[in-house]
Amino acid sequence: MRSSPNLLARRDWLSPVIGLDICLLDSRHAAQIVDHYCRLDPDDRYRRFFSATSDEVIRTLVSSWDWQRTVAVGARRGDRLVGLCEIGWERDHGPARAELGLSVDRDMRNRGLATWLTRACLEAAMARGVRTLEARWLWENDAVAKIMRQLGAEIGMHESFMVGRASLVATHDAAHPAGT
Ligand SMILES: CC(C)(COP(=O)(O)OP(=O)(O)OC[C@H]1O[C@@H](n2cnc3c(N)ncnc32)[C@H](O)[C@@H]1OP(=O)(O)O)[C@@H](O)C(=O)NCCC(=O)NCCS
Repeated sequence: MRSSPNLLARRDWLSPVIGLDICLLDSRHAAQIVDHYCRLDPDDRYRRFFSATSDEVIRTLVSSWDWQRTVAVGARRGDRLVGLCEIGWERDHGPARAELGLSVDRDMRNRGLATWLTRACLEAAMARGVRTLEARWLWENDAVAKIMRQLGAEIGMHESFMVGRASLVATHDAAHPAGT
């Protein structure tokens, strides 16, 4: 993973997660994930899922997640999931190429939480074999653009979305030479 000058330059780099419980998520957290997504307002649901998404659709979506093809890291305050980073891949491609999904409760935004969760989730995802991270976002969603840029992503436009693709291979392999 490329280092993020912005994040590392922050002397208070742990501050986004102070007071929060950070954990790897699995199917046992499905109800908290549903609850978190259902707190997103209609605009944010569109930004996250790229369509108008009802509570019912969210429940169906989460219950159909294949946890064998998903790595998810959450930030919790008590029982409430306040932020979530999810990296998942298609069965056909395997984990080499995966897609990023992010969401943070409104009152927790713009303090580095999504950036922090992305880095934590990437570390777990790379251990599962993820080598290229892709993300899609609406053009005005600057926070995702910044997060992908910090990962060294190439960014372009595809249909009505911005698309970013970050290669994680070189830095990972340099840090973990074969046989070590
Ligand atoms: C996108 C989202 C997850 C960002 O969460 P966040 O915790 O606020 O993000 P961060 O605080 O880590 O911010 C990342 C960068 O974007 C910047 N940023 C945050 N909100 C911003 C905004 N509204 N406009 C411009 N820049 C913004 C931050 O300053 C930071 O930049 P820096 O590293 O140069 O300081 C959150 O806005 C959200 O949940 N949106 C709804 C769902 C969504 O859009 N998901 C993305 C599609 S996968």
